[in-house]
Amino acid sequence: MKNFDLVIIGAGPGGYIAAIRAAQLGMNVACIDKFVNQDNKPSLGGTCLNIGCIPSKALLESSELFAKIEHDFIDHGISVTKPSIDLTKMQSRKQKIVNELTGGVAYLFKKNKITSLHGHASFVGENESGVVIRVDNDGTSEEVCGEKVIIATGSKPRALPNLAFDNKSVLDNEGALALTSVPKRLGIIGSGVIGLEMGSVWKRLGSQVTILEAQPSLLAATDKDIAAEALKIYTKDLGLNFEFSVKLGDISTKNKEITINYQIDSIPKKIVVDKLIVSIGRLPNTDNLKCENVGVSLDEKGFIAVDEHCQTANSKIWAIGDVVRGPMLAHKAEEEAVAVVESINGQFAHVNFNTIPWVIYTSPEIAWVGRTEQSLKSENIPYRIGKFPFAANGRAKGLNETRGFVKIIAHQVTDEILGVHIIGPFASELITEAVVAMEFKASSEDIARIVHAHPSLSEVIHEAALAVDGRALNM
Ligand code: FAD
Ligand code: NAI
Repeated sequence: MKNFDLVIIGAGPGGYIAAIRAAQLGMNVACIDKFVNQDNKPSLGGTCLNIGCIPSKALLESSELFAKIEHDFIDHGISVTKPSIDLTKMQSRKQKIVNELTGGVAYLFKKNKITSLHGHASFVGENESGVVIRVDNDGTSEEVCGEKVIIATGSKPRALPNLAFDNKSVLDNEGALALTSVPKRLGIIGSGVIGLEMGSVWKRLGSQVTILEAQPSLLAATDKDIAAEALKIYTKDLGLNFEFSVKLGDISTKNKEITINYQIDSIPKKIVVDKLIVSIGRLPNTDNLKCENVGVSLDEKGFIAVDEHCQTANSKIWAIGDVVRGPMLAHKAEEEAVAVVESINGQFAHVNFNTIPWVIYTSPEIAWVGRTEQSLKSENIPYRIGKFPFAANGRAKGLNETRGFVKIIAHQVTDEILGVHIIGPFASELITEAVVAMEFKASSEDIARIVHAHPSLSEVIHEAALAVDGRALNM
């Protein structure tokens, strides 16, 4: 049996980043991953690189360009004879990006002398050298021993009861990203991040999209002003159909059509669609991991139970990323990875959960960091708000991307920035200024006094900071 200083289970953004950082610090590392791609080949990078963040952003970009040609170019005085879509080419571009990045992880593993093992990992027990893990691959198995272990097994899509994913008509994220033709009628259950991103892609490419949501409103955890603006844009500009307060009933498939019966306020309704995406959240991946063999316990929601340092009930085993509490985001997994490895190495390590940014890559993008107005209100924390629209910004006008605004919330007494919420062009990039500011405990006055390039979208953040004190200059 081979012994390693550190064995990592899972090669997603949590696992592969942990492996690289540990190798940089001189540890002898093995990383076990079981993912196989559509060609049945092992592919590192986990959900994020293979069937999540990266392929979704590739299709979002392609479909947005298509929508721009159809609806936006005309404003620039550019006319194009009716554009068409080659979905095969669009999908192969997506896959090329995925392959380059997953191949990049394999390259980095080689470069950093990380032992990459393919197969399903499960805990066997402990011996005098550490934790014993069995790796099963296609009928063969081997055991490896890690003095320390990090579990980074990620998450999997949650299915509806009695409606298994077949990725032919009932699709999870993998199926939703792999469609080979544009469905005429697309149903989506759940108007969360995946529902909105996938809904945007297929609507722009020509589907009629209906999204059924259990909650009474859109994006309940998002700042209320952002959610209201988003709903307006998604319905009026993009043309998504939403149904809220939905109670699902019977769902049946016949002749390639899916009939979804549901109720709103006890009134029966139904839709018939050609494909159905179910995006109702994700579950931690602990299938057949045999945590019980090494004393690793799960919390009441099935996540691996960890303390604030990602330590499990076993002092030799840590867990990070989607398989533990906290937001299911790639950058959260990566930061936990670095923090755990550095703390194993005796360094100080900390992840600031208060400054983890969220981004929804719709058009326009939504991004935020920190507290929402409604959460501050519910805790009676006094605050001031500065808001500034992209419509009053020269760069946004030049880009023809004038929808949305920046909203900065600062403490009424100390002026410390408590939350920044953006709906608008390149919100995913703009939010970093807010993250840096909040990490350094900046006040809105600090941002108001920082020089922002002109003309740039970042001026909207500058003006929103000025607006906190009622002194926006261009409004
Ligand atoms: P994962 O990436 O899930 O990796 C876990 C790996 O472990 C997988 O390869 C899995 O096969 C393997 N594994 C599991 N069990 C075992 C086992 N027993 N033995 C061996 N291997 C095992 N986040 C963002 O921040 N930005 C985005 O834009 C974004 N877009 C997304 C879009 C979609 C469609 C989806 C589904 C997710 C998206 N996410 C996004 C979320 C992001 O993908 C996850 O937060 C991130 O991948 C979590 O990383 P992880 O390392 O914890 O797990
Ligand atoms: P989600 O948690 O974002 O949204 C799920 C939605 O489904 C919620 O609005 C919920 O109310 C609704 N829902 C649950 N049960 C329902 C039911 N029975 N009927 C109708 N609606 C129901 O989950 P989603 O979209 O599956 O994404 C999972 C996670 O993946 C996200 O929370 C996020 O962490 C990550 N992700 C991140 C992205 C990003 O950072 N841009 C992109 C995509 C996913």
